[in-house]
Amino acid sequence: MASKKLKLDLEDLDYETKFSKHRFQNDEDEEVAGFGYPELETFFAEGLITEVLYEVKSGKEATVYCCRAGSALGVELAAAKIYRHQQHRNFKNDTIYQEGRVILNQRTLRAVKNKTGFGREAHLGMWIGYEFEHLKQLYAAGAAIPKPYRQADSAILMEYLGDARHAAPILHNVELEPEEARPLFEFVMNNIELWLKHNLIHADLSPFNVLYWEGKLRVIDFPQAVDPRFNPNAYDLLERDISNLCRYWSRYGVQADPERIAKNLWRRFQNSQL
Ligand SMILES: Nc1ncnc2c1ncn2[C@@H]1O[C@H](COP(=O)(O)OP(=O)(O)OP(=O)(O)O)[C@@H](O)[C@H]1O
Ligand SMILES: [Mg+2]
Repeated sequence: MASKKLKLDLEDLDYETKFSKHRFQNDEDEEVAGFGYPELETFFAEGLITEVLYEVKSGKEATVYCCRAGSALGVELAAAKIYRHQQHRNFKNDTIYQEGRVILNQRTLRAVKNKTGFGREAHLGMWIGYEFEHLKQLYAAGAAIPKPYRQADSAILMEYLGDARHAAPILHNVELEPEEARPLFEFVMNNIELWLKHNLIHADLSPFNVLYWEGKLRVIDFPQAVDPRFNPNAYDLLERDISNLCRYWSRYGVQADPERIAKNLWRRFQNSQL
């Protein structure tokens, strides 16, 4: 099954006005030169990207763009994920993910608790920072995730999954071949184990946050990932992640008991046997 975004052709896009360097209005209504993506200016300035090719998806918390990478990156394309600013976004009810996290700066802590403007911005900044840190940590550990390149302001730049015409589809929209289903299931389960070994649980894992590209899977969207050493909801989140995937793979006849898998992983995690 092809998702809608798979059908997006570059020819459909209005190149001149949308994506090339052009003039736009700044906050003071002055005409300034720029690329029309203030959140991406740092990436342009550092030569990491040269052009925004197309919007991949505007989700609940962020918009992701396919960009042409600059020579500094040494690849053809890059994905830019721009988080929404607080007035435009609907924060995930994040209490269960935040438990066990420590905010050391007292001013920030007070502001976040009181939900002041600064506090909400700091809160957003924490989420972006968490996602980038989680990606870096997991990528270094060999996890199947996009390679993180850079974070600046409210955006993250990372490896692009897809090509100049199409983004990789989410697993939810993919029809797997019968013979690839079981190995891909085991591949993702091994990844969950690897993350746990590095003290992370994704905590929003589902076929919507797994991308399928050239026969391989890569997991995305890590801002809410939790540390099982400190978060009291960790086991439940782990079991929920595994259940979501078992449900998807059951349609391919992959029989797996999510509770058994989660309990087994959790026992080995607690006994430092991962
Ligand atoms: N590295 C990438 N390469 C290609 N496409 C990507 C990449 N990262 C994200 N996407 C696309 O952008 C979409 C949104 O990304 P992500 O899930 O990280 O953000 P989100 O705001 O949490 O979105 P949602 O609310 O849909 O979960 C993904 O479903 C995927 O289609
Ligand atoms: Mg997502």
